[in-house]
Amino acid sequence: MEKDFWLSKWEMNQIGFHQDEYNPNLMEYLPHYLTDHHSKPNVLVPLCGKTKDIIYLANHAQKIIGVELAEKACHDFFIENALQFDVQEVNENIKVYRSLNIELYCGDIFNIDENVFKDIDLIYDRASLVALPQEMRTKLYQLYKKLLKNDTRLYAITFEYDQSQMQGPPFSISTNEFEEEFKNFHLKHLSSSKTNFGENKIDFHHHTYEVR
Ligand SMILES: C[S@@+](CC[C@H](N)C(=O)[O-])C[C@H]1O[C@@H](n2cnc3c(N)ncnc32)[C@H](O)[C@@H]1O
Repeated sequence: MEKDFWLSKWEMNQIGFHQDEYNPNLMEYLPHYLTDHHSKPNVLVPLCGKTKDIIYLANHAQKIIGVELAEKACHDFFIENALQFDVQEVNENIKVYRSLNIELYCGDIFNIDENVFKDIDLIYDRASLVALPQEMRTKLYQLYKKLLKNDTRLYAITFEYDQSQMQGPPFSISTNEFEEEFKNFHLKHLSSSKTNFGENKIDFHHHTYEVR
């Protein structure tokens, strides 16, 4: 998706993807992850918007690194959660908003120095891969695959529907696509559920996966 598309969505406050509550799938997954794998992980939240899930994660994690294109989202996240923050300019395209154990990198994820992600234990993707059309999604898969080393895990929440019925975003990600991308990794398809989406009540499947 072109950057201007998302920036204008934020400017016009057309952010139907934003949830006011913690994501229930994350709340189900995280306690198991913390008990079984890592009690104080460093968590990457790519394409994070101003999701409340950052707060939920920050309450349990060592450090959260979010990445978000729209500065409005980064700014509003801290204001709406009543967190004092400071802002550092990394270069002309990237700023970092910081508070407590949360760092939000404001800029294009594909322009961020990958050293920033080197200590990540868990990647939390909710509606991030599905936000991107195929070509850009491939780049995000590639980044995830680079980060999935040792014991790093990806927890992903994706959507699947008949793409001919609706233009994305969100884009449909078939189970086949996801399995093919991660065929050289350990992939668990944790859950699937069906809802209806939009005015035309399209059949919409929510999938959750863990990859390591
Ligand atoms: C569908 S929203 C999901 C936001 C968040 N994950 C949530 O669950 O609320 C996708 C977000 O990705 C951001 N975005 C799109 N392309 C990006 C890029 N290349 N780098 C960083 N953020 C990007 C958009 O501004 C938007 O806030």
